Amino acid sequence: MEEKKNFLLQAIGIKKSFGSIIALEEVNLEIGHNEIVGLVGDNGAGKSTLIKILTGVYSADRGELYWKGQKIDKLTVNLARGLGIVTVFQDRALVSQHPIWRNVFMGKELANRFGFINIRKEKEETMRLLKEMMGFTSASISSPDTIVGNMSGGEQQGIAISRALYFEAPLIILDEPTTGLSLTESQKVINFVRNIKKEKKSCIFITHNLFHVYPVADRIVIIDRGKIVEDLIKDKITLKELEERMIKVTGTNAMRAKNADKFLLNN
Ligand SMILES: Nc1ncnc2c1ncn2[C@@H]1O[C@H](COP(=O)(O)OP(=O)(O)OP(=O)(O)O)[C@@H](O)[C@H]1O
Ligand SMILES: [Mg+2]
Repeated sequence: MEEKKNFLLQAIGIKKSFGSIIALEEVNLEIGHNEIVGLVGDNGAGKSTLIKILTGVYSADRGELYWKGQKIDKLTVNLARGLGIVTVFQDRALVSQHPIWRNVFMGKELANRFGFINIRKEKEETMRLLKEMMGFTSASISSPDTIVGNMSGGEQQGIAISRALYFEAPLIILDEPTTGLSLTESQKVINFVRNIKKEKKSCIFITHNLFHVYPVADRIVIIDRGKIVEDLIKDKITLKELEERMIKVTGTNAMRAKNADKFLLNN
């Protein structure tokens, strides 16, 4: 547990209970600089609770948090936001009836010298974002005026991720970004996660589906009943071994990937 400064974020000995339910027990988690970490576990394993602690929504009963080696005494939602820890929730990442440009600058509007929102500049920047960060190909997202609700699920996640990258968020947390999406849409999301790596930022990718996280993860952390039970370097384990490990530690095969998902590995 030494050399804390080598990590972007480090959680040590985190404990959290809700009444008699122990949601997290002695959790240690490190996120490196420019590292993509897959956080996998069954329903009720403690994934969301852990994320809420890392984003200041809940405070832990016990344990310590370090950001770039510095101890954080009390992490609040505002402080987490200020550090650039951004969570992208699948269902409420964007305002669907607004165009892309409005969503990108929501809460971070660019003002002109009269103090009004600089719409022209926001649209120009959105165009740049679409081209450079998203490398869009689909006709539906060729304009900053596109209404977000008309875009596909994977593309919407892409906008939310690109927005975080545009504002230079060092840590992007994706909470089940592919759940409920088709294979092609999941593939899009996986490609956006690759952009996070390219842009030299870090990511925690929460999922039930090993096939979705394996292609992009540097490390895979398995959480089960409030405890981290495996912390694995992706390059040192095959997907098959990982699946077997998962079934063994969690005692369930609920997370066994579907055959169709194998498509994702080669794309
Ligand atoms: N606010 C709360 N009050 C009481 N119990 C809670 C609360 N939040 C979580 N729990 C309990 O803590 C445990 C961990 O829940 P958590 O939501 O973190 O799991 P999860 O891994 O995110 O599950 P899922 O995959 O279903 O989203 C569960 O037993 C859950 O019922
Ligand atoms: Mg959850």
